[in-house]
Parts: sequence; C-alpha cells; structure tokens
Amino acid sequence: MKLSKGFWQTYKEVPSDATIASHILMTRAGLIHKSANGIYNYLPMGLRSIKKVEQIIREELTKADCYELQMSTITPGDLWQESGRWDKMSGQMLKMKDNGGRDLCYSPTNEEAITDIFRKTVKSYKNLPVTLYQINTKFRDEIRPRYGLMRGREFTMKDGYSFHISRECMKESYQKMYDVYEMIFNRMGLKYIAVEADGGAMADGDSRTHEFQVLASSGEDSVIHCPSCEYAANIERATTKRAFLNTGKSDLAMEVIDTQDATTIEDVCTMLNTPQSASLKALLYTTIVEDKPHLVLFMVLGDDNINELKINKLVHCEHIAPATDSEMLAAGIPKGHIGPHSLPEGIEVFFDKEIDINAAYCVGAMKVQKHVINFIPSRDACEFKTADLRESKAGDLCCNCNKNVEEIRGIEVGQVFELGDKYTKSMGATILDHNGKTAHPFMGCYGIGVTRTVAAAIEQNHDENGIIWPASIAPYHLYFAVIAKSDETKALAEEIYNDLLSAGIEVVYDDRKAGAGFKFKDADLLGLPIRLVLGERDFKESGLLEIKSRKSGEIKKVSQKELITTVTDLLKEL
Ligand SMILES: Nc1ncnc2c1ncn2[C@@H]1O[C@H](COP(=O)(O)OP(=O)(O)OP(=O)(O)O)[C@@H](O)[C@H]1O
Ligand SMILES: [Mg+2]
Ligand SMILES: [Zn+2]
Repeated sequence: MKLSKGFWQTYKEVPSDATIASHILMTRAGLIHKSANGIYNYLPMGLRSIKKVEQIIREELTKADCYELQMSTITPGDLWQESGRWDKMSGQMLKMKDNGGRDLCYSPTNEEAITDIFRKTVKSYKNLPVTLYQINTKFRDEIRPRYGLMRGREFTMKDGYSFHISRECMKESYQKMYDVYEMIFNRMGLKYIAVEADGGAMADGDSRTHEFQVLASSGEDSVIHCPSCEYAANIERATTKRAFLNTGKSDLAMEVIDTQDATTIEDVCTMLNTPQSASLKALLYTTIVEDKPHLVLFMVLGDDNINELKINKLVHCEHIAPATDSEMLAAGIPKGHIGPHSLPEGIEVFFDKEIDINAAYCVGAMKVQKHVINFIPSRDACEFKTADLRESKAGDLCCNCNKNVEEIRGIEVGQVFELGDKYTKSMGATILDHNGKTAHPFMGCYGIGVTRTVAAAIEQNHDENGIIWPASIAPYHLYFAVIAKSDETKALAEEIYNDLLSAGIEVVYDDRKAGAGFKFKDADLLGLPIRLVLGERDFKESGLLEIKSRKSGEIKKVSQKELITTVTDLLKEL
C-alpha cells in the first residue's frame, strides 16, 4: 500500500474512554473506529490483522477435518425457547420483533442454531463424528462494554461445534481441539496458558472445559498457576491448600470481649493484635428454596475470601446473594458481629475445609459491639458442614505437588467445552445408533474471540511508542519509509517497492511528503515487524539502506542487492 494513495491516518489524541494499551493503540494507529458504545468499525489496517487471525484459525481447523459453514446472525426466538435460554440469557441478548410480531435475536452464541441444523440433516451414526465451525459476528449486550475490542458488544467469534455418538468420542475430539488451539495460538506468536475453567450453565454434570488465556498484566481474569507441575486453573474454579498456618491451640472457655465499633476483621485483629488468620470471617447469604428465602452462613479464615462460584454450586439454587441489612435485621442477626453459635433456628452453616476445627479463633459474639475469643469450632459451634469455600491465592500449596502456586493475569481468548447431551436432549436431536436405536448425540463446542485475540496480542506486545506486532498477524510485514527529494531517489524507491512486492513481502510504502521524524513515529505506532529506510543522503554516501527490527530495535545496513534475502530471512526469524 502506498500511503500517498491509501486510507490510513494516525492520531495523537488518546480516546477519552480508553484506559488500556490495546484500546488506545488500536485507535491511535488507525485500526478501529468507534461506532457506538462497545461497537466498532474495523478500518482497512485493522481488518488485515483480523483477517490474518481468521486465516490461521481456518487453516488449522481445516487440517483437523473441521468444516466451515455460516449461520444467520439473526436467530428465531423459538429455538431459544426450546433450549430454555430465551429467558435465562435475557440480559445478554439483543432481542427484536419482526413486522409480523415474531421474536428474533442477534445471536450471542449458536448452540441452538447448530443443533437445529444438525437435527434436520443428520440421521445416522454413520455420519458422525462431525465438527462444524463458523467465523461470524456476535452480539452480547454486555453490562460494561469496555477496553475497545477486548470486551465489545458486537465482536467476531470463531465458534465450532462437534457431534458424537458416544461420550468417549466427544472426549477424544475435545483433546484434539485443545491441541489445535495450541497450534493456533503458537502460530500467532502469543504467550498463553490453557487453564481449567468453569462451564457455568453451558454443559451437563461431568464435563471438562478449558480457557486459553493470553498472559498480560491488564487481563481481566485471574489464573492460579503452579510453576512446578503446571497445574493451572481460572481462580473461579481453582482449588489449593493453605500454606502452613500456626493456629492457636487453647482449652480456655469462650470469652466475650468488648470490641466497640470494630466490625471488620482488619479492625478487630488490629485491636487484638492478632493475625487475621486467627479469626474467622462470617458471610451470610440468602438463597431461595421453594420460593422461600433461606439463610446460609459461610465461615472462612479471616484473611481468606469466599469464592461465590463454589458456594453457588454447593447450594444448587437459582438465586444466592449476600444477605441484605434488612434481611439480617428481620432474622435478628447483628451485622458485623456474626458468629457460628447462638444462631436462630434454620440457618445452615458451612465451614471452609482449611479451618482447623480444633484451633481457637476470634469470631463475632452475635451481640452488637462484642466478639468472642477462644472459640473452638469442634467444641463451640452449632451444627455445620465442611466444604471448599475459599478463593485460592498466591502462596497457597498446589493440590498435586504441594509446591507454592502463583497468581497471574490473563485475557481469555478461547474456550473449549464438553457439552454432553444437554442441547441435543432439550432440543430433541436424535440419530440412529449401531443397533438402530434412537440416541441423543454428544456435543463439544469451541470458541475463539477473533477480535479479542487481536487486542490481546497488542496488550501483550507493545511499548511506549506503539504496537509490536507478532509477524504472523501484523497488518503488513514491512514499513518502507522513504526520505527523498530527488526524482532519481524517488524512482529508486519505486523500484525497491516493486521488488519487495514481487518477493511476496507486504509493504506499507510511506511515500508521503513528510519528514523522517514524522514517518518514524507513525512506523513505531503501527508497529510492523520491520522498518526499512531509504534516506537520500545516506544512500548517496554509502549505497546502503537501513533495516530495523521493531521488536529488538536492532539495526542493519544493507545494499539494494542484499535487501530481499535479508528481509525474507528476518521475517522467517520473526
Ligand atoms: N464481549 C466480548 N468481546 C469480545 N470477545 C468476546 C466477548 N465475549 C466473549 N468473547 C470471546 O469469545 C470467546 C468464546 O465465548 P465465551 O462464551 O466462552 O465467552 P465468555 O466466557 O462469556 O467471555 P467473558 O468471560 O470474557 O465474558 C471468548 O473466549 C472470548 O475470547
Ligand atoms: Mg468463556
Ligand atoms: Zn503443582
């Protein structure tokens, strides 16, 4: 592309709603343009990278015998009614009615649509297994769209779905797709980690799911990782053990103490001059069981946090939320002073598995401005059950190898799921098995956020001057900055440009009437892997051009003759 004729512009200004590097740089480097909150136009320069990500995905999926199709982005409401997700996913769905009053929605995901295609086309086990995928636009009415393409409302996703006659076959495909995802993200030159994740309401009981997380300090997700054995899990689902705790033993009786206005663990422990792990945190939640509110008390060590996903699973109900002040008041429970003793009837109590039930702790006294010390759960607590309630954290011990784990930040760029027969059952998709009997096939589903991956690549690869593209997904390979006044040098530049193109090198040819400083700033901001400079004065003196690697900053001087091989070699290296 010749810039004098191209459509590309950079900006000095930082968009007012942009807080992370990829959003700022994608806007400043002229890759994207905001259309509405969470909705973006992909400009030519940005679209090239998006298409490269798509192409890598396509090539790897094709190698793995997956077939590309394209489903309509608008899907009928009936399908979502059938699976039961029309109401469940309401918050995320952009729903509409056509002129005939029929319900439609802009697809946030396509399990229903693919199952519908499948049930109308495939009748026999002989046609299985099969994996279909599309690369298409999705819409999710995210509550907080932010970070540019990272969390948009409209975005591009690769979504794939596989169908199988048996659970074993589904598991094999899952592993195969996991391996394909590794190939895909390796080819994109990204540093990432595959982590155990939570499937939410996506799948049936005994199902695996992994997320592919690009490592970046600005990532929204927390990952617990064991450097010794490579255990890795999203913090939402991670299970670890506490590192050694020196818990206090005592046989003194419980004693009520005056703690005045101290209601938080921090304040009470500061007052008592004890570590927070010597007290227990009491968290009261309300659940709805058979349409009636029901209180559940969860106890964790004072310096631990509760993992809400774990407690959600534990109580198996549609709704669970921290009890409100008025709910506590109505139940006669003093906020800030709750303890697992002297509780009103009917409150279920869970202790975290890391609490030593024979050690002595400080807990709320169930009286305003009072706490108790020497509280020993096995002796003093009301009836309770034990479960894994706490959120894992850095410094915990790995359940596999007992070494310390770390907490790292990631950006979820993809996720693979074993779905089981949840959708084929709810939507009545059946096939004939080997014995001529009807059976519900098993499914897997596999997503990659295409546009989020581009943003994540920038988030992981940039400096204060701009983007540093991994070569395989850069919009172009090389930025050719020409600093020339004479017609002779301009003609030489034209010749070099054509030579580069003939060698299959993708070039941004900066032939604009502008100074070196201006061009170099734009080159750094756009961040193509190689910058090539033809400077008139330099070339007249030495007969050499300058090649600079955006990543390493390394500079090489080359003659016109050596140019193509040097560039080709450098690109291979990158
Ligand atoms: N709002 C979004 N903007 C851009 N990409 C997204 C968005 N939501 C999901 N994706 C991408 O699509 C992929 C598959 O979708 P999936 O249903 O697993 O998303 P998700 O787990 O709901 O994402 P998140 O937890 O970040 O909201 C994700 O791994 C992610 O890369
Ligand atoms: Mg996900
Ligand atoms: Zn380990």
